[in-house]
Amino acid sequence: MDARHWDEMYRSRDQVFSGNPNEVLVTETNDLPPGRALDVGCGEGADTLWLARRGWQVTAVDISEVALQRAAAAAVDVEGRVAWARADLTTTPPQAGVFDLVSIHYFPLLRGPGHASLRGLLDAVAPGGTLLFATHALADLAPRHDFDPADYYQPDDIAQLLGPTWNILINEIRPRTAPTPAGTHHTHNAVLRALRLP
Ligand SMILES: C[S@@+](CC[C@H](N)C(=O)[O-])C[C@H]1O[C@@H](n2cnc3c(N)ncnc32)[C@H](O)[C@@H]1O
Repeated sequence: MDARHWDEMYRSRDQVFSGNPNEVLVTETNDLPPGRALDVGCGEGADTLWLARRGWQVTAVDISEVALQRAAAAAVDVEGRVAWARADLTTTPPQAGVFDLVSIHYFPLLRGPGHASLRGLLDAVAPGGTLLFATHALADLAPRHDFDPADYYQPDDIAQLLGPTWNILINEIRPRTAPTPAGTHHTHNAVLRALRLP
């Protein structure tokens, strides 16, 4: 799933996602004071805009130029609070140690040798900052000929890699409250919330 794949996916429809922020983001960040956030794989930008409108300074990164253009076009009211960037976050890690929130929602993160891509994202969390990782629960995902869900990190895998400098606050499967997206069987989210100790 390279940049061309994602660009084609976004070009295939005028709007791919609902435009609403992800429910896990809304639930889990309401108690956090605004600071610097990284939206990993920001897509059409709903999470980024929600955070920016609440006073966060957001770095929004995606591999798809089409998605970023669409997101930026919707961001007229948060000018100066969002930095949009095109990058492959599996090969170009974000700036280390500077984000009060690293938000990773439905980002296709393949397991890799030495967990290099994952570690790059974990390292982006500042001391005292929050890692929020949400994805579809494994039980909702059926393997296809070109896709094996077990190849991708689930919260539990990440929790096991976090060392003593992290405090795991949430590692659970929970029912979705948002409607199941058309054509899918997504009924549950898998959620990891962890604090990097100051
Ligand atoms: C399933 S979408 C989720 C979008 C958004 N986070 C949301 O929850 O609506 C995954 C996003 O990750 C982006 N993406 C996939 N691989 C990437 C990579 N290696 N680096 C940066 N972005 C990537 C895709 O372009 C896409 O926008």
